[in-house]
Amino acid sequence: MPISDFTGRTAFITGGASGIGLGIAKVLAARGARIVIADLRPDHIATALAQFSGGSQSNSVRAIELDVTNRTAYAEAAAQMQAEMGGIDILINNAGVGVEGPVLQAGYADWDFGMGVNVGGVINGIQAFLPQMIAHGRGGHIVNTASLAAAIVMPGHLAIYAAGKAAVLNLSENLRADLGAQGIGMSVLCPGFVKSNIHQAAQNRPEHLREGSGFAESEATLGQRELGENWMEPELVGEMVANAILANRLYIITHGEFKDRMRQRAVDLIDATPDAAMQF
Ligand SMILES: NC(=O)c1ccc[n+]([C@@H]2O[C@H](COP(=O)([O-])OP(=O)(O)OC[C@H]3O[C@@H](n4cnc5c(N)ncnc54)[C@H](O)[C@@H]3O)[C@@H](O)[C@H]2O)c1
Repeated sequence: MPISDFTGRTAFITGGASGIGLGIAKVLAARGARIVIADLRPDHIATALAQFSGGSQSNSVRAIELDVTNRTAYAEAAAQMQAEMGGIDILINNAGVGVEGPVLQAGYADWDFGMGVNVGGVINGIQAFLPQMIAHGRGGHIVNTASLAAAIVMPGHLAIYAAGKAAVLNLSENLRADLGAQGIGMSVLCPGFVKSNIHQAAQNRPEHLREGSGFAESEATLGQRELGENWMEPELVGEMVANAILANRLYIITHGEFKDRMRQRAVDLIDATPDAAMQF
């Protein structure tokens, strides 16, 4: 049974203490869901929880500190959710980092940082939570946050980010049928520019992945980036996500700016494809 009503459902939102994840948390809480924010950063968690405190949803929102790349901690979080909440209904694999720098100067530390969080975090979420979501039999929904960077060719300094997000988009497309057979819906969120703290990538990079990075300068520059005034509000993304869950819609595309580039990529792929089946 895909989700038809958020009342009493439990949503586990990674990277839920800031930006898009917090926007999703606010909307799902307002629509009656119980929210568990899972985030790396205690400062983000404190700021996020303060926004709910005293309000009518304050009792339905809680937070845990979790690094989505830590599989042991992830398994413990899933066990905790099973014991304390009877398992989760909605998994939002949203934690991500804006790994950014000239790809030809990248070290393994940069690949491991970007792929570890942006792809590995999604894989770990699925591995940790899918068994309980199937076992409890209530059905549910998974949303993976990719990016429009997954669907168009980006400049070289975004290659690691874009490649990771393309993996998340493709994984989501490929999971949908198998999850559907288990009563679990699947959506993939591909945002354009949204107001958030994604420019703070350097602060989210673990100590052991600083040595050997070729991106220190780029990340310092990114850290100074101002938010664009016309960038989308995270709560609007949250509304789109909530509506897509209820409709069990696969693609959640927030912005239309890159439509021509998306079309051109699709056309280029098709143009490069032979008309006939394989003949030698
Ligand atoms: N903001 C945009 O314009 C935009 C566009 C396309 C895609 N996205 C994607 O949206 C998602 C949310 O990003 P955002 O823009 O809201 O950024 P954000 O930095 O405001 O929020 C991301 C949250 O994830 C947390 N986080 C980082 N690493 C983590 C880890 N290892 N474990 C757990 N939590 C971790 C951070 O502490 C932060 O609170 C990301 O996957 C990002 O790639 C954002």
